[in-house]
Amino acid sequence: MVTPAPNGSVEEYISRSEEDTLRIARSFAQSLKPGDIIALYGDLGAGKTEFVRGICQYFHVEELVSSPTFTIINQYVGTFPDGEEVVLYHVDLYRIKSPKELHDIGFAECVMTPDAIKMVEWSEHADQLLSLPHYAIFIDFAPDAETARIIRITHVKPEKVH
Ligand SMILES: Nc1ncnc2c1ncn2[C@@H]1O[C@H](COP(=O)(O)OP(=O)(O)OP(=O)(O)O)[C@@H](O)[C@H]1O
Ligand SMILES: [Mg+2]
Repeated sequence: MVTPAPNGSVEEYISRSEEDTLRIARSFAQSLKPGDIIALYGDLGAGKTEFVRGICQYFHVEELVSSPTFTIINQYVGTFPDGEEVVLYHVDLYRIKSPKELHDIGFAECVMTPDAIKMVEWSEHADQLLSLPHYAIFIDFAPDAETARIIRITHVKPEKVH
């Protein structure tokens, strides 16, 4: 799996369990702002959805966060620590195979929603993702051993994305 070339800061973590991944995600979520887009890379079962769960925990999403494999886009409402509400979109493009399908699910509208936090699995299936300026955070999940995962977080500087 190829992550876009890093041109910003890179942080690397080792998760040794599902619980570790949730903890790393909750801690990462503290830095999120309204409008941020997170693209999650890694093979099937790498831990992308688990990480999204951790982000949703930080925002006190009450619903059960499940993989949007069939629904493609799930929407949640969470809250920042100051009580401000935030919409979170969890998108899984694994089954999306063409620009038409991408259009039909309303992907562009979803990622352009100004104040929502967008988390996208299999964003490799959406070329336009990389052409937008604010897709600033890329997270790559690489299995290391049975339950170990290397999680690399790259903050892409918007002015260099074009
Ligand atoms: N360190 C770990 N971090 C996260 N998940 C782990 C870890 N160790 C084992 N697992 C297991 O790996 C699986 C990760 O599944 P998850 O749905 O998060 O993968 P995914 O990357 O979203 O895959 P997909 O591309 O199919 O959506 C879970 O069953 C989880 O219990
Ligand atoms: Mg998933």
